[in-house]
Amino acid sequence: MERSLVLVKPDGVQRALIGEVISRLERRGLRLVAAKFMQVSTELAETHYAVHKGKPFYEGLISYISSAPVMAMVWEGPNAVAAIRQTMGSTRPTEAAPGSLRHDFALEVGRNLTHASDSVENGANEVALWFKPEELVDWNREVDRWTFEK
Ligand code: RTP
Ligand code: MG
Repeated sequence: MERSLVLVKPDGVQRALIGEVISRLERRGLRLVAAKFMQVSTELAETHYAVHKGKPFYEGLISYISSAPVMAMVWEGPNAVAAIRQTMGSTRPTEAAPGSLRHDFALEVGRNLTHASDSVENGANEVALWFKPEELVDWNREVDRWTFEK
């Protein structure tokens, strides 16, 4: 089963959109595995966004993500990585598909509400970076067989 790290970034928390993000992922049929409300340290922000180090927006990105609390979660399901990124919409809100979160609730790339893992491999690595193994909950829902084919 694919897993993705999902963050409701500080702008999403401040704008009271945690519930909206969770609601959309639940409605999609994805299953919550872990969640914690937390302040992101500069160290964690730098490790998480190491791939962007040196880019013009890097410093702003680190201060944005660590400026106020985030809601960190792990969600799983078949094709979870692609499905969640589709639900979030393109990185630049003005390029995000109508109906996606970033289309419906955001305007600027530097205030784009959420993070989601961009590959299955990065999903596994990011889950391990943000959560301890004992924080991940293995569970089944009665309805899963009506959402998950296998
Ligand atoms: P994320 O990693 O946060 O889920 O976003 P993403 O995959 O859609 O975008 P990515 O390319 O990984 O960029 C990470 C975050 O950096 C900020 N950004 N700003 N000013 C800019 O040109 C720019 N480009 C990226 C965004 O907050 C983006 O989500
Ligand atoms: Mg990314």
